[in-house]
Amino acid sequence: MSKNIKIVGVGSYLPEKILTNLDLQKTVDTSDEWIRTRTGIRERRIAREDQASSDLAVEAAKIALQKASLKPEEIDLILVATITPDMFFPSTACIVQDKLGAKNAAALDISAACSGFIYGLVVSHSLICQGQYKKVLLIAAETLSKITDWEDRSTCVLLGDGAGAVVLAPSDSGKEGLLASTLGAIGSAGNLLYLPGGGSRNPTTHQTVDKKLHYLKMQGNDLFKLAVKSLVEAAENVIQKAKIKPQDIDLFIPHQANIRIINASAKRIGIPMDRVYINVDRYGNTSAASIPIALDEALREGKIKKGDLILLDAFGGGLTWGACLLRW
Ligand code: COA
Repeated sequence: MSKNIKIVGVGSYLPEKILTNLDLQKTVDTSDEWIRTRTGIRERRIAREDQASSDLAVEAAKIALQKASLKPEEIDLILVATITPDMFFPSTACIVQDKLGAKNAAALDISAACSGFIYGLVVSHSLICQGQYKKVLLIAAETLSKITDWEDRSTCVLLGDGAGAVVLAPSDSGKEGLLASTLGAIGSAGNLLYLPGGGSRNPTTHQTVDKKLHYLKMQGNDLFKLAVKSLVEAAENVIQKAKIKPQDIDLFIPHQANIRIINASAKRIGIPMDRVYINVDRYGNTSAASIPIALDEALREGKIKKGDLILLDAFGGGLTWGACLLRW
């Protein structure tokens, strides 16, 4: 049993290929101006044809392991948050376990869409504090470009590919770790963001492909309102549980879906924009991967110091939502 957890290594990986708004302007009826003003996105990364989510996951994981000075064999649990698994089964976590040579690790995928990393952090915290596992590799990896309808301007401008990873270990110092967390779901709103085809409801046939059921569907407008509401409520919940004030938060890392959602949420929570980490302009919405990618960048840019209070906050398909307040 341990009191809390600590993040001992962080890494991220973004595919090299950059797809700009100007590129998209040439293929769908949209404009750089529309995309920038409605979403804050300028460009996003796109995985190569031969790259699946596990390939991105492995690159991010290798960096996180190196930062943690750990060998893959020392990991006893791998969790992969993704809605773009390599295939239905085996799980992407099992594929990653093999590619890394993490032969002593159990492996499990988490399907909670954009909240997947937060769900994974809370699950890892419980398992580590119960003493079940000591070294957990939590990865979030997405290749949304593979489930995107590139003729649908209402979704294709929003999404991108990438992966982020953290290595978690027990902490008994009483100084660092997860101070408070909350998770939730609104299953009744699942139809706002989903992928209808290919599962047991609509097994893949020529017809499901003709109807484009293998692509992600989104009702952006309705999602927008629920997104702000969920982000604000989740943040207020952890702020209250940890008995802190919004102004105590050193860095707010929200899920990177849309700059307008981020601005509206930060304002309502009461966090000034100079304490909000933003990279949606460069990567678009990378679903579960967005928070660990941002966390890794913030660390490398020196925006996080020992003892800082960090708020992670996400919402996504499911619908799911969740927040974690961390003492670094
Ligand atoms: N380029 C140009 N016009 C576009 C467009 C694009 N890429 N996508 C949609 N439009 C059009 C629509 O067709 C609509 O036209 P109409 O008025 O003639 O019908 C118009 O722009 C306005 O669309 P609307 O949906 O009202 O825009 P919006 O201000 O709500 O912005 C989103 C759309 C998708 C950017 C916004 O709703 C959003 O970000 N929602 C949340 C999405 C999200 O976060 N999803 C992930 C959850 S994890």
